[in-house]
Amino acid sequence: MLGIPNIIKLYFFVIWLISYEVKEFIHSKSFYKELGKKQRMRRKSVEDYLEVIYRLIDEKGYARIFDISAFLNVKPPSVTEMVQKLAKEGYVKYTRYQTITLTNKGREVAKNVYRRHKTLTEFLKILGVEEEIAEKDACEIEHSLHPKTVDRLTKFVEFVKNAPRDPRWLEHFRIYYETGKYPKCEKNEA
Ligand code: FE2
Repeated sequence: MLGIPNIIKLYFFVIWLISYEVKEFIHSKSFYKELGKKQRMRRKSVEDYLEVIYRLIDEKGYARIFDISAFLNVKPPSVTEMVQKLAKEGYVKYTRYQTITLTNKGREVAKNVYRRHKTLTEFLKILGVEEEIAEKDACEIEHSLHPKTVDRLTKFVEFVKNAPRDPRWLEHFRIYYETGKYPKCEKNEA
């Protein structure tokens, strides 16, 4: 049988052990990795919502919970919860049964994401990816790109789309994609 002094000692030992393990966990890489992952997920979610609200306002003149729900394929109560959080953080204006509008802060973020979205979609389409897949994948990638990468991609898309004639190398790429072979270049061909 343990005497009372030993039970007290055991109690303090367990407390010390738990706090030691918690400290170890906090300082371990996995904790920070997990935290970073959560922040990234949160950022992605905020950006996705703001982008959709921005697009809905642009296309229909207004954004409502049901429209966002349909667009993102998320249940209306979850959309309401997220929109309320966005309102608290100053990204949107929303009162129950009213349409949702963007604040200046929200519009700034949304415009930026949508710009990235369009660039990525166009880039993927240039590579030959089908529009529907390009749109979907753009939404996945758009949150985590470095601004320098976005800048390059934007210039690349501009370069291809505004080229004075169809770039032959793109046609060559298409042939390479389909056959696995490099087409023969004619002289002076770009
Ligand atoms: Fe997107």
